[in-house]
Amino acid sequence: MLNVTNLQVNYGAIKAVQGVDFTVNDGEIVTLIGANGAGKSTVLKTISGLLRPKAGSVTYGNLDLTKLSASKIVAAGIAQVPEGRHVFAGLSVMENLKMGAYLQPKHQADQLAVVFDQFPVLKERRNQDAATLSGGEQQMLAMGRALMARPKLLLLDEPSMGLAPIYINKIFAIIKAINASGTTVLLIEQNAQQALQIADRGYVLAAGTVKLTGTGTDLLNSEAVRAAYLGG
Ligand SMILES: Nc1ncnc2c1ncn2[C@@H]1O[C@H](COP(=O)(O)OP(=O)(O)OP(=O)(O)O)[C@@H](O)[C@H]1O
Ligand SMILES: [Mg+2]
Repeated sequence: MLNVTNLQVNYGAIKAVQGVDFTVNDGEIVTLIGANGAGKSTVLKTISGLLRPKAGSVTYGNLDLTKLSASKIVAAGIAQVPEGRHVFAGLSVMENLKMGAYLQPKHQADQLAVVFDQFPVLKERRNQDAATLSGGEQQMLAMGRALMARPKLLLLDEPSMGLAPIYINKIFAIIKAINASGTTVLLIEQNAQQALQIADRGYVLAAGTVKLTGTGTDLLNSEAVRAAYLGG
């Protein structure tokens, strides 16, 4: 479904991503894990068209994503939940969700029902200003807003960041449920343990390159991953 080959992305003189290869197959949960500054968000922003690569290719089916605008990429079926959520303050939960459906106004009502089913708390809080939601609720809103676009591929950048354990478990359970209902997921996480538990496959990024790859189970059991990311 998604093929990333020899991806290189620079910020001026900084080589943030230096030749990354990975694939995401239809129906999978694939996770990219790695330390701060490894290049994870840079990879995600390049897929979603917010950054352009210096070299390499990003293809989705037979589309070359490096040639498409961010809004064309959403229209092609890829939605991103950015790091730090970025819900629209001053707009209600409902208004935030409707923004996510701007390319699909005909499906807005149906999709709203799907999202409220997945996130009952958003239904309860639908008239509340998004800025007044708790951190965990804002993460759910950011995910709900992305789902309003009815994506085939959902890109998640550190959805568990800053959340209490009970919310973290909830978010990972919801990611699994979203995947089970037919959405392919590319998940970026620092919470390697939980990400690898739900992922079909994973890639370990360090200093802009892929250091290790394998099934979620293989990586959970790998000495190198345990030492570096799972606290030994
Ligand atoms: N806009 C920018 N300008 C200059 N350098 C940047 C910019 N954004 C990121 N970088 C650098 O690129 C490298 C990769 O950053 P990136 O945000 O992709 O890392 P990350 O793996 O997502 O880290 P984190 O887990 O902390 O979010 C870092 O060294 C970072 O300082
Ligand atoms: Mg990041």
